[in-house]
Amino acid sequence: MQLHAVETTAIAWAGAGLAIGLWEGETDLSGDWAALDERLGGTLSEIIEEASFKAKAKSVLSARVGGDVRKIIVVGLGKKDEADLETLRQAAGAAAKTARSEKCDRLGVALPVLEDVAGSVQAMSEGIQLALHQDKRFKSSGEDEDEPKETPETIELLLPGVDGAIAQGALAAADSMVTGTILSRELVAAPANVVTPVSLAALAQELGEEHGLSVEVLGQEECEAQGMGSFLGVAAASDLPPQFIHMTYRPEGTPRKKLGIIGKGLTFDSGGLNIKAGAGSGIAMMKTDMGGAGAMFGAAKAIALLKPDVEVHFITASTENMISGRAMHPGDILTASNGKTIEVNNTDAEGRLTLADALVYADKLGLDAMVDLATLTGACIVALGNSIAGLWSSDEELSADLSAAGKTSGEKFWPMPIENSYKDGLKSVVADMKNTGPRPGGAITATLFLQEFVETTPWAHIDLAGPIWSDSGSGINPAGATGFGVRTLVNWVMS
Ligand code: BES
Ligand code: MN
Ligand code: ZN
Repeated sequence: MQLHAVETTAIAWAGAGLAIGLWEGETDLSGDWAALDERLGGTLSEIIEEASFKAKAKSVLSARVGGDVRKIIVVGLGKKDEADLETLRQAAGAAAKTARSEKCDRLGVALPVLEDVAGSVQAMSEGIQLALHQDKRFKSSGEDEDEPKETPETIELLLPGVDGAIAQGALAAADSMVTGTILSRELVAAPANVVTPVSLAALAQELGEEHGLSVEVLGQEECEAQGMGSFLGVAAASDLPPQFIHMTYRPEGTPRKKLGIIGKGLTFDSGGLNIKAGAGSGIAMMKTDMGGAGAMFGAAKAIALLKPDVEVHFITASTENMISGRAMHPGDILTASNGKTIEVNNTDAEGRLTLADALVYADKLGLDAMVDLATLTGACIVALGNSIAGLWSSDEELSADLSAAGKTSGEKFWPMPIENSYKDGLKSVVADMKNTGPRPGGAITATLFLQEFVETTPWAHIDLAGPIWSDSGSGINPAGATGFGVRTLVNWVMS
């Protein structure tokens, strides 16, 4: 699909499909839209009337109009005073998806531009590309018969009055964001017999060669030398070697700041000896347990393309949580690389064990701030559902920066408490702490556990177990892996 910005107005444009955005309460056409209606012989106002179309957010109306525009697609934008970049992202995505189902090979998209002109154009392009993305890597046919692959072939954003250079810059930024998001989607969607700790390490080397990132990969022995007993305890049962992956993006000149992004990288989580048993356990979805690392890799790719003046460290302690004669036993005591001892009272709380050593490592890099992302707890899904990630930070500025980045990207984060009194739940008789507390507040005790491995760096923890995957798809997310987190991380680094 080719995406262009043109200065043509909707009134002058001709092609297979024309998508226009209307504000709620402004469906009595006036001005430009009245002129377009007249050109279309009054069919636009007719279909709006017939369908009692109110232009509510997420509503779409399409009809055959004939002449030099075959299909008109009317996208509801909701209330004007509630509009933000996400409104445009979703509306553009809805227009593109409708054009595909209406088999329009060429689509013109006429949406309003908000005060943030570049942001508006970027959001439209992101919405279109992410909504149309299809992952057919594992389909033998390669193509759905009833959904031709490349429809629409050409999409034109109709942007009269928008400076051409600004539009081009915004489209380039969108392309980087989309490339990173799709990389993350493809990593998360790929099964555990394809995406492994070793394949992730190979990807890191590839990104390093392609973009000049420096890459360090620690194998079993190097991790032993670092005393990463917590991470290696999780890795013990796997037949695949654990890989501790560290990529660094360094800008030319002195970096404005140094940041760290750490992703949970469990390429499969069986639960270990506390096995995820039964149909309701969700074990078949546990290929997605590297969703944090997927977001980290996607952000690394996008940041390498966008080249900000910020140094960024990308880290994942990647392994599988498996079962064998070498598996850690429930009750085993592990020693992490900061010397703290952990009684593993549940082998299924493995993500925090891998993150512990990753956080200790990152904390020594002298970063101005770091954030970890993890598909850490079912409890966070219970608390916030499938489209909102939990955000914990003891640093108010960092928390505000991440929330603002999320607002720009359209990804949802909700601030959660670091309730130190709940630390009692992690008390162990025999070791410094247990790895799991009681069921209530399980996403909070998981965070309190991680906090034990951060000493100096301002730190935030994001639990994205819910939003990393969408069974049915919605808006700009087709069913499957969403690529959640990438665009927020990139916005955070660029801010
Ligand atoms: N990877 C899971 C969390 C998860 C659950 C992600 C569902 C996506 C969907 C994590 O390793 C886990 O198993 N957590 C346990 C913790 C419990 C043993 C304290 C959980 O949430 O049940
Ligand atoms: Mn688990
Ligand atoms: Zn897990």
